[in-house]
Amino acid sequence: MNKAKIVTCQAPVNIAVIKYWGKRNDELILPINDSISASLCLDHMCAKTTIIASPDFKETKFWLNGELQPTDNRRLQNCLKEMKKRANSNLECLKWHLNICSENNFPTAAGLASSAAGYACLVYALSQIYEIKTNISSIARIGSGSACRSVFGGWVRWYKGETYEGSDSVAEQVAPETHWPEMRVLILVVDDQKKTYSSTSGMKTSVETSEFLQYRAAKIVPQRIEDMVDAIKNKNFQKFAQLTMQDSNQFHSVCLDTYPPCFYLNDTSRTIIELVHHYNQFKGEIKVAYTFDAGPNACLYLLEENVSEVVEMINYVFPPKPTIMSNYFKGIDISITTPDEKLISSVSNFQQTEGKLKYIIYTKVGRGPRVLEKSEEHLLTESGMPKH
Ligand code: DP6
Repeated sequence: MNKAKIVTCQAPVNIAVIKYWGKRNDELILPINDSISASLCLDHMCAKTTIIASPDFKETKFWLNGELQPTDNRRLQNCLKEMKKRANSNLECLKWHLNICSENNFPTAAGLASSAAGYACLVYALSQIYEIKTNISSIARIGSGSACRSVFGGWVRWYKGETYEGSDSVAEQVAPETHWPEMRVLILVVDDQKKTYSSTSGMKTSVETSEFLQYRAAKIVPQRIEDMVDAIKNKNFQKFAQLTMQDSNQFHSVCLDTYPPCFYLNDTSRTIIELVHHYNQFKGEIKVAYTFDAGPNACLYLLEENVSEVVEMINYVFPPKPTIMSNYFKGIDISITTPDEKLISSVSNFQQTEGKLKYIIYTKVGRGPRVLEKSEEHLLTESGMPKH
């Protein structure tokens, strides 16, 4: 094993504020519109991947969350092939097989963007093994579209690109994670066991059947992207929050316009939407924005100064089951004070039965992928077997 190379990396989850929905090329994963997201703090939600390249390995193996996976997966193979093409062809380790082990530090059952963080982490770790210094976002993209935005920290734009083969369909940073330090994120994990349509198949049906999707991509998103970039650069929360909510709602309208329709929101999601609008109206200006991906979980963007009040309100409207209280809040510590009585009495109509939310993750915008240097961080033993 003395010649073997080993690397362990982490990559962030990202949550889009202008959504990617629809491909113009399924194989190359080329989108029909630009999108923008924020990468979330690695401490609370991330993918972690260890790769060993060794001349002793007889085949390439891949473990995901402790389970051995088939390696003939097209997307995985495409990423490996493209990374090898980018590397200097004299590199000895290009001929060696790999052992790859990947896991998420958040429950996959939550239905949260795990493939984005996972593919970004895989490609970033490969870039360390193959010594690639260029923008690797277009390779993460062929693993999973939204993964291309997770190869950077902070605020990230994925350009749809114009070329046929997609060389210009890449992600770039709009602003680093330090740019808007007050920005916070609350993820409300909605209790819902039902398996919905995957993003990949949902957006394929949307492209085939929804004229609204084509209209959105051509006529609405281009201006919205410019406005969102401005709002982020100028830290204009009002503008940012309004665009975020409108774009989430428009994406879910496209889903309804899809035939047959794909429903990602449930009654709890809709109550969260109404509650956020009620709160913003109560405060006299927009203080919180919601956004939903291909599932019922809500992602709220808000400034730090409003977190404790918003959480108090959410706790009142969505009382947690007492049995799960010990592990209910994850991420950054939240200090909860006494709720504003006027606010609480104004939301009494919204109150739900216990347990509609599984748990809440409190986090913030964070950095991009990184290498973990310490050997105890490796997910594989020196001989290439998963430690867990
Ligand atoms: C709703 O990136 O998961 O989260 O490219 O087919 O792998 P594939 O789809 P994926 O789609 C994500 C869609 C979304 C919106 C977004 O993240 O922009």
